[in-house]
Amino acid sequence: MPTAHVFIATSLDGFIARKDGDIDWLTGFSALGEDHGYDAHIAKMDGIIMGRGTYEKVLTFEQWYYEKPVLVLSRTLEPHSLPDRLKGKVEIISASAEEAMALAAERGWNRVYADGGKLIQSFLAAGFVDDMIISRIPVLIGSGIPLFGETLADIALEHIETRSFASGLVQSHYRVRR
Ligand SMILES: NC(=O)c1ccc[n+]([C@@H]2O[C@H](COP(=O)([O-])OP(=O)(O)OC[C@H]3O[C@@H](n4cnc5c(N)ncnc54)[C@H](OP(=O)(O)O)[C@@H]3O)[C@@H](O)[C@H]2O)c1
Repeated sequence: MPTAHVFIATSLDGFIARKDGDIDWLTGFSALGEDHGYDAHIAKMDGIIMGRGTYEKVLTFEQWYYEKPVLVLSRTLEPHSLPDRLKGKVEIISASAEEAMALAAERGWNRVYADGGKLIQSFLAAGFVDDMIISRIPVLIGSGIPLFGETLADIALEHIETRSFASGLVQSHYRVRR
């Protein structure tokens, strides 16, 4: 099986978006000139698996900025709802975490970028997540979509590194203990 890798930003109070999906607190955060390592991270990935919520948000952006192939997991979206401009780049599939990772393996992917709060939670529960790089933005938004949720059992993490930036962004890298 491939391994899954997380690279995501949260508010200091642990949310990845407001309840309505808005990420204005993130896109409006000024960290000019800082390299938080996203390009280096994505360069190491063979493909991306994201949840429907994340896909629907990215669809509202002017550009589709992923160069790597993307699998969108959804049990409600019709595969043929994919816009023409994304054909050949994105595939919408109705699959469990296990089925999606098996498909990724069939495609020869070794390292998968897992994105979306619920998706990451399900990949953690299934034991697919190898490491997580979490950037905390210095803002409290009070409520929203949480990165983490209930777990069936504790998930122990090894702290690899924490870096802080002049902007106030604090980035921690954890590996999931086996
Ligand atoms: N701060 C950041 O860096 C960052 C990064 C990524 C996303 N976001 C934001 O987070 C929000 C989306 O996060 P989210 O937690 O609501 O949604 P998500 O994880 O992106 O998507 C969840 C949806 O994916 C589908 N799904 C299918 N199989 C699944 C599985 N095995 N595990 C989990 N989901 C599965 C389900 O949709 P169906 O009902 O269609 O089956 C589920 O409701 C968006 O607003 C986005 O902008 C922020």
